Formats: sequence, structure tokens, C-alpha cells
Amino acid sequence: MEIIKTIEELKKYRKTTEGKVGFVPTMGHLHDGHLSLMKAAREECNNVIVSIFVNPTQFGPNEDLDAYPRDFERDKRLCEGGSVDCIFYPDVDEMYPREELTIVRVERITQKLCGKTRPTHFQGVTTVVAKLFNIVQPDIAYFGQKDLQQSIVIKRMAEDLNMDIKIKVCPIVREKDGLAMSSRNSYLKENERKAAPVLYESLQKAKGLFEKGENNADKIKETIRNNIEDKVKKEIGNIDYIEIFDTENIDDVKKIKKGNAIALAVFIGKARLIDNIIL
Ligand code: PAF
Repeated sequence: MEIIKTIEELKKYRKTTEGKVGFVPTMGHLHDGHLSLMKAAREECNNVIVSIFVNPTQFGPNEDLDAYPRDFERDKRLCEGGSVDCIFYPDVDEMYPREELTIVRVERITQKLCGKTRPTHFQGVTTVVAKLFNIVQPDIAYFGQKDLQQSIVIKRMAEDLNMDIKIKVCPIVREKDGLAMSSRNSYLKENERKAAPVLYESLQKAKGLFEKGENNADKIKETIRNNIEDKVKKEIGNIDYIEIFDTENIDDVKKIKKGNAIALAVFIGKARLIDNIIL
């Protein structure tokens, strides 16, 4: 497995690859969710490149950039286990050597859901992902459904900018009790970790109601809210949002249809957990 730290070297490496290149962009602290993306890439592509880069521009001023968990040696072992061909591991000066005057911003859909509390987050994501796509030149790029809004935004960016890259969204990987895997789960204290599966449990309850014929979005949101507030007491957390929407334009729906999504974000302790379900 190659470990490459500079853009120039990665571009040189890319000239030596043959066949389809699959790309898994990550911020490291890898877990089974990332491993499932690597597996999907391994199955479909001749060459698998993983990037590990904690991208400062997608963190807001009071967010967890410094605290974000990092462990390159562990990530390296996991990539080796996942039969990755190459890790691209640049540092911040390599990716942002001077003031960036160019920003890739997808309008409107980035200001909803997570964009309401993190207004500059997605422009940080799309700018770094566009840079990574230009450097790596993949045929297929793999993202997790856990970050559903991110995958909708990236798909839209790739289409709007005519990028010749297929965006694949892979299913959410969960802990045994249903908690969606996330690097940020490591922030949870014991009592918070116990409360955290309530996100998935509430989504399952909502799905059950929808399958029994309930299509009123307000009623379903109310059920989710009550379920979460029962389990997550004010001292340990609070709900950021519960939204039901169409998966192309992220427009709110009042009468739910098959294919719509329910997404939620809940602060529990220091972690802001997100989860979603497509009905
Ligand atoms: O999903 C992530 O880990 C990040 O947002 C990404 C796509 C690697 C961009 O920094």
C-alpha cells in the first residue's frame, strides 16, 4: 500500500494506475462505516484510493476541529486490512498553501437541515471534495448515507459541474443497538452513549407508522420528538432538527411519500449526532 502526502506524487501515482479507480474520501478515525465504503470500492474498481484529511474549512469557529479524533497508525492498519492500494494523506499546508480565493458552493440545499446551524459547513465540504476529485481523478467516489445531506449536495455539485465521476451512496453501518457509526461517537460519555440509540429507535418508530398508513409529516415529527425527549433529558442533550423531505431538493413535505427521507440531528453531551432513513 502506498502512502502519499503530496499532490504532485499522487498525480504521478495516478498516471501508473490501470482500470477503474475508486475513491473513498475520509477525515480518518476510520470505523466499519468507512470499511464498508472501501469494500464496495474494492469490489467494483481495480484501484482503491482513500484520502485521510481533517478538512479545517468545513468546521465552524466554535466546532470540534482541534478535538477531532486522529490516529493515523490505526487508520493505516485498517486500510491495509481493507486492501486499499493507496492512502492520500496530505497536511493542511499541502491542501491550502495560500489564502483560498475559490470556493465551490452549492446554493439553497446547503442552507437546510445541518446548514441551518452550520451555515458554512457544506461549502467547506464541496470545496475540499472538488479539490480531491481534481487531484485523484476517480471513476467512482463512495460516500455513506449517514451523511445524507452531504451526499445529496456532492451529487448535485458533480452533476452541475459536469464532473465525470459516479457518486455512490452506501448504506448506514450501525452498532448492535442501532447507533449509526460515526467518528464523533467517541465523544459520548457512558450515560450519553446509552441514550444515543434513541435516534435510530425513533426513526424505526416513524417508519412503522408510515408503513401502517400515516402520511402526515407533522404527526410523524411529533412522535419522533416525544420519543427523543422521553429518553434524552435536558441535562444531557437537545434536538437540533427533525425534518421530512424529498431527497433531490431537500424540500419539506407535508404528506409523506415513499422515497422521502426523515433526518434528524440531536446534541447529546459534546456530540452532535445525525441519522436518517429513506422511506
Ligand atoms: O464525510 C467526511 O468525512 C467529510 O465531510 C469529507 C467528505 C471527507 C470531506 O472532508
